[in-house]
Amino acid sequence: MANIDVTIHKHDVLIVGAGGAGLRAALEASRQVNTAVISQVYPTRSHTVSAQGGIAASLGNVEPDNWLWHMFDTVKGSDYLGDQDAIEFLCRTAPEVVIELEHMGLPFSRIEGGTIFQRRFGGHTKDYGKEAVCRACAAADRTGHTLLHTLFEQCIKNGVAFYNEFFALEILKNEDHVVGVLAWDIVHGGFHIFHSKATMFATGGYTRVYRTTSNAHINTGDGLSLTLRAGLCVEDLEFVQFHPTGIYGAGNLITEGVRGEGGYLLNKNGDRFMKTYAPTVWDLASRDVVSRAMAEEMRHGRGCGEKGDFMLLKLDHLGADLIHERLPGIWDLAHVFAHVDCTKEPIPVTPTAHYSMGGIPTNRFAEVVIGSMDQPEQPVKGFYAAGESACASVHGANRLGCNSLLDIVVFGREGGRKMAAFAASLGEYVPLPDQAGAMGTAEVKNLLATTGKERMDSIWEVLRDTMEKNCGVFRTEETLTAQKQIVEQLCRRFKTVAIDDKSMTYNLDLLETLELGHMLDFSRAIVDGALARQESRGGHYRDDYPKRDDVTWHKHSLAYQEPDGSIRLDYKPVRMKPLTVPTFPPKERVY
Ligand code: FUM
Repeated sequence: MANIDVTIHKHDVLIVGAGGAGLRAALEASRQVNTAVISQVYPTRSHTVSAQGGIAASLGNVEPDNWLWHMFDTVKGSDYLGDQDAIEFLCRTAPEVVIELEHMGLPFSRIEGGTIFQRRFGGHTKDYGKEAVCRACAAADRTGHTLLHTLFEQCIKNGVAFYNEFFALEILKNEDHVVGVLAWDIVHGGFHIFHSKATMFATGGYTRVYRTTSNAHINTGDGLSLTLRAGLCVEDLEFVQFHPTGIYGAGNLITEGVRGEGGYLLNKNGDRFMKTYAPTVWDLASRDVVSRAMAEEMRHGRGCGEKGDFMLLKLDHLGADLIHERLPGIWDLAHVFAHVDCTKEPIPVTPTAHYSMGGIPTNRFAEVVIGSMDQPEQPVKGFYAAGESACASVHGANRLGCNSLLDIVVFGREGGRKMAAFAASLGEYVPLPDQAGAMGTAEVKNLLATTGKERMDSIWEVLRDTMEKNCGVFRTEETLTAQKQIVEQLCRRFKTVAIDDKSMTYNLDLLETLELGHMLDFSRAIVDGALARQESRGGHYRDDYPKRDDVTWHKHSLAYQEPDGSIRLDYKPVRMKPLTVPTFPPKERVY
């Protein structure tokens, strides 16, 4: 193995991750202080690029809407696990941040009169749940793509320093102050320390831990594992969202916008089964409801195909003109991955692991926090998180469609502001700790040197199949207990993992093995959290506890990693107090 040096860089603000949250934060911070972004991929390849249907904001362009209705839907959609101060902030700020994106040049689709096009989406309603409303602001079905490119251009204009194709290995802390990150240069090999005054993780979600997923290959939850390894906790990981319409056999997303435009789901008998499960809004019910309905239909033998393991999404009745104008990406995806022309035939679809509601705990300023049932939350000095890797928690137990693009720009911008102010107030850099990066460098050096018999692919195959089977749309004590044992066994196998490629440049064997180590770390938190939570809420559905239990479980789960890798669970209260409006639990709900 070559001799490995460490190169040191210094930036006031460091952001790990170049998706929408990271870029929005970078843009904001760079208006005031020296700002850098490190990213595992070239920024425009970040997973935000694949967000399709829209960004939620009560602009009211197509029909009346207001942020209180948006807030109501988000609180209800979260199955009452969302923190209401953060949700209020999200929904109130939405129109402003969307108009801001429009002024940056984001090419939204337009309605007559020239204002931003808005479409219907699951769980978006007017007048507190009475009927569906057009709230999703869209650029055809490529909203994430346009948003990411717009923000990247703005960051370039603002002189943000980009370190592309760097992989974060370790959070650097001096006592309780986060002072930067150790990273691996994927292109050339070699270690780099990024010394900063304020550091943000915007490292994305983790659903690559499932076999069927709409997520990019990079979504391996690395930021969560590094946070656990730094002695901090992660929140609500048991809440994983399954999007109802992933392409059968591939997992790629078919936007809910298809149903927003009037598409619908059919079972093998040609029945619109959603009328039974959600009599008011049918196919536009929230994602957890639709995914479970599909799984229920398949369980009862009403799935399509020889194995009865998919449903059909019909949209040909919308007409080729509308499909090509508003859903062009869907046509392409259906053509390439399902081999169907969706202007003529339905698309075979199945629930696909899509979004992680949990993540690194933050307050509404994107400051990473620690707290418990008895201890009020305290920010961790110098550490911020935003986007899917964070848990603000605006999505609670289940996210509404289009609230994710909104989340990344609202909390990205807020975090950027807070980091710039914090960095400016700090004066000098807090020094790096002695032995900075020793853990991360040792991990890579060991992998480059070791000759064990296990290989990452065979461990990962088992992990993603069993997570899907035992900790997927439906869970029980039995399946989760089995999964806990499986993950523990995989962790033991991982101790003797080795890589065949010992080279320094573009060593994907090394990278994927590091990622697998991360996935194993936080899978334990997903499974332990799900096993402990004896209720059903949002994306967490326990067949053996099918009801929501607000008396015992109206609280957030926190997971800490013990020195032996096992998980210690703790809890903290849900923040129920909005910023300015009275709490409004719907009458039928009991707290
Ligand atoms: O269905 C979709 O277009 C997905 C949107 C989202 O996850 O917010």
